[in-house]
Amino acid sequence: MCGIIGINSNKSVSASIINSLKKLEYRGYDSAGIATLHAGSINEVKSEGRVDNLEKNSVVQNMVGTIGIGHVRWATHGLPNSINAHPHSSQNVSVVHNGIIENSTLLKKFLVSKGHKFKSQTDTEVIVHLITENLKTENIINSITKTLKSLHGSFALGIIFKDQPDLIIGARRGSPLAVGYGPNENYLGSDSYALKSMTNKITYLSDGEFCVIKKDHVEFFNEDGIKINKKVLELSSEEEKYDKGDYKHFMAKEIEEQPTTLKNGIKEYLDTSNNDINIFNFPWKINEISTITLIGCGTAYHSCLMAKYWFEELTTLNVNVDIASEFRYRKNRFKKDTLYVFVSQSGETADTYAALSLCKSKEMKTCSVVNVIESSIARDSEFVLPIHCGIEIGVASTKAFLGQILILYLLALKLGFLRKDLKRELFNKKLKDLKELPDLVQQTLSIDNKIQTISKTFNDAKGSMFLGRGFSYPIALEGALKLKELSYIHAEGYPAGEMKHGPLALIEEGMPVVVLAPRDDYYKKTISNMQEVIARGAKVLLITNKSKDEIISENIWETIEVETTGADLLPFLLTVPLQKLAYYSALKKGYDIDKPRNLAKSVTVE
Ligand code: F6R
Repeated sequence: MCGIIGINSNKSVSASIINSLKKLEYRGYDSAGIATLHAGSINEVKSEGRVDNLEKNSVVQNMVGTIGIGHVRWATHGLPNSINAHPHSSQNVSVVHNGIIENSTLLKKFLVSKGHKFKSQTDTEVIVHLITENLKTENIINSITKTLKSLHGSFALGIIFKDQPDLIIGARRGSPLAVGYGPNENYLGSDSYALKSMTNKITYLSDGEFCVIKKDHVEFFNEDGIKINKKVLELSSEEEKYDKGDYKHFMAKEIEEQPTTLKNGIKEYLDTSNNDINIFNFPWKINEISTITLIGCGTAYHSCLMAKYWFEELTTLNVNVDIASEFRYRKNRFKKDTLYVFVSQSGETADTYAALSLCKSKEMKTCSVVNVIESSIARDSEFVLPIHCGIEIGVASTKAFLGQILILYLLALKLGFLRKDLKRELFNKKLKDLKELPDLVQQTLSIDNKIQTISKTFNDAKGSMFLGRGFSYPIALEGALKLKELSYIHAEGYPAGEMKHGPLALIEEGMPVVVLAPRDDYYKKTISNMQEVIARGAKVLLITNKSKDEIISENIWETIEVETTGADLLPFLLTVPLQKLAYYSALKKGYDIDKPRNLAKSVTVE
């Protein structure tokens, strides 16, 4: 998704801006651009596609200027071409923008009536002209305050001015933005990750705030243009490594890293000497909570759904699961005895963040399960459970999914135990099983050859289905999501028991159907559902766990057996072949696996 970089320095900034934009590439984008200020004029270069295209441009290679802004764009308003790429500039002002301006059509009408000419189809260009218009009568601070008040929607902005050789403005509402501090230079970035290569001293802007970045100091203002003080945070100075190593794609590497993700999570939260789960500083008394509401988007939503099954199995709590974009606009009944849990890898997903803000405005108990601990969701929730899986670059979430479900499983176990829903003996047994999980996932990873062959059938098909019941149902949804997002094959995840209520009509001769039927309490029921699809011509890939008992069905096209463990941990193992299936399908099709079309890693617009 869109990303912003700004640098105000006493040396040339274009190369550093390009390098920082490369750090933002993992977010998914379709065009890039840069503007620098030199000798009283703004020079702007934009290009379609990757930052590489921008870097190769001869104008960029010779670009001078000690102050500049750069952007990677993920199209919302207007085609993904170089005209719509950011920055957008008037004669006086140049702007980069993340987010969506909801009243851009009205503002544009007003600005056109004042004689402003527009070049692009974007909503961003209205900001440029609005500032230019306001500058006719106001000073910089007042023109920014006035402009921001006229905008509806969400934004993170970086702005430079033709007549201001030592000034970048940053402004935030809804979309994340941070300031970084360096020696004789200061920075603006939509992502602390991009700033980390230049500094570990960061200040995050809160909603409604803006800042003035000069070479030697930074000033902060609230939405009324009144100066405020902000804290400088020191992030860990270790820059996380994120090279692909010997892997062709980040996704392949991240799938293989999953045993480490689990080991890290277990090491962080399991107290092996006391047979306990450490959830330090949990801020609420256990009897204050009788309901858990889990909220997320996409894969993180599937983690929430997975957790529902575990919370219901291991505790007597009431459990709700919600998609953030639905939750935030519904007429919810907020209850004081509910713990609202927000699940997000990036911690910046706009809908999840809005759902959190809504709960906070109602003074609810909020907890987040995130990977990026400096993120907006982590910073704004009352209590954070980090997943410790390291940076995830592939747009399709893999290791973060296993990391999220591990933490949610631990939370369910701990609450079940504290509430006395779960007896000590069973609690101990589950902790013992957990310790073995990373090795079992490791063994399950060695199924590549079989999956590679199987993936061909999926690529040749018009569509496919993924079926599961109970603990396996959220994993079926996740498997279908992975296949569709990476290989662009239509894939539908469904509860196996629902097939005869409609979707069975889709089954035709040769259609590949994945059936998740581990040997748990749902096994026989799922096998019956599987027979119903086989009878109608489906080519079934059965994924189950190893067992001494034979599989009780015939005419199965292919079978994959994952390792064996307790029923509630089998979802971890079932996930692995589905991730690999999606990976190999996309690989065979030659698609861009780490950056699938139309998608972004961090979805900062609603
Ligand atoms: C799918 C995927 C997305 C994300 C979703 C939420 O592979 O990665 O569906 O899970 O956009 O993102 P986060 O977890 O960052 O809130």
